[in-house]
Amino acid sequence: MKSPRDVFRPLAVGAPDPPREVPLRPSRMIHFFDPSNPKMVAKVPDIAPKVDVLLGNLEDAIAADRKDAARDGLVEVARTAELGPTQLWTRVNSLDSPWVLDDLTTLVTEVGDHLDVIMLPKVEGPEDIHYADRLLAQLEARAGWQRPILLHAILETARGVANVEEICLASPRMQGLSLGPADLAADRRMKTTRVGGGHPGYLVRADPTGDDVHAPRTTAQQDLWHYTVARMVDACALAGIAAYYGPFGDIQDVVACEDQFRNAYLLGCVGAWTLHPAQIDIARRVFSPEPAEVAWAKRVVDAMGDGSGAAMVDGKMQDDATYKQCEVVLDLARELAARDPELAEAYDL
Ligand code: GLV
Ligand code: MG
Repeated sequence: MKSPRDVFRPLAVGAPDPPREVPLRPSRMIHFFDPSNPKMVAKVPDIAPKVDVLLGNLEDAIAADRKDAARDGLVEVARTAELGPTQLWTRVNSLDSPWVLDDLTTLVTEVGDHLDVIMLPKVEGPEDIHYADRLLAQLEARAGWQRPILLHAILETARGVANVEEICLASPRMQGLSLGPADLAADRRMKTTRVGGGHPGYLVRADPTGDDVHAPRTTAQQDLWHYTVARMVDACALAGIAAYYGPFGDIQDVVACEDQFRNAYLLGCVGAWTLHPAQIDIARRVFSPEPAEVAWAKRVVDAMGDGSGAAMVDGKMQDDATYKQCEVVLDLARELAARDPELAEAYDL
């Protein structure tokens, strides 16, 4: 039990106050880079202006003997790179790993004032968030930071999915959740061998028209991730935090990547991970409302006046609920237009 009065009390003497609102900054693409790879680090100045979030990855995909180099590389990037409005995030190693204590201690102590969000992988329940929350408060207090670093959890274990609401509500530091389809598939014993996306074997088939069940029939592939993304979006909305689709591993298949991102966008996600520069434009296109959609939303809002009652626009019934949907699109459009002059012009807000 906890008194509501204690929710916003710092968890360590001298730590900054926990945030009351999650700052809704554009985060259409969370672009992963390996800070232990000098070639990738050299590209940071080119990539940073093209993405909303740059994430220094310390966890999976970084070999065990590169963990220290990745952590040091990220400290250097945080200290030296001119990132402008682009946010800097990191994905630290999992809480049961031998590296995470050094990841958190070093990053928060050395460059905590440059880090916006720490992504925690393989979060299983609220206890993981409570642990990180307290440790961050202690480290922030010791370093004298004024601004609390936010936390983001990856939903990639069956237990994490079972506890998803409690994870989202575990701390005012929670900024959002990402789906981790690769680890989640393994943990659930799904029989896929890929990073996100669909599977041609997961389908439904029309009934047979005659006696021959082998005769051709229409089939439709289903989305393996629908259930989890929908649960994640509801849990995030409950807590007032943001939901993200995670990685799409088939870099060549830009078409299916766009489909997966768009499904997530339509269901309520605000962004996705980009693992390769080829995916950055896809995420920008998908997670920015289309100008025609924004124009339509404006027409509905104008027709609805104070938002109550009902109106017909092009033969379609509008009421309080469509007004609210249109406001969701317009809020996002305004937020993106403030950052992106091309979108500001296209939206004409
Ligand atoms: C991401 O970390 C995943 O496991 O998909
Ligand atoms: Mg993972």
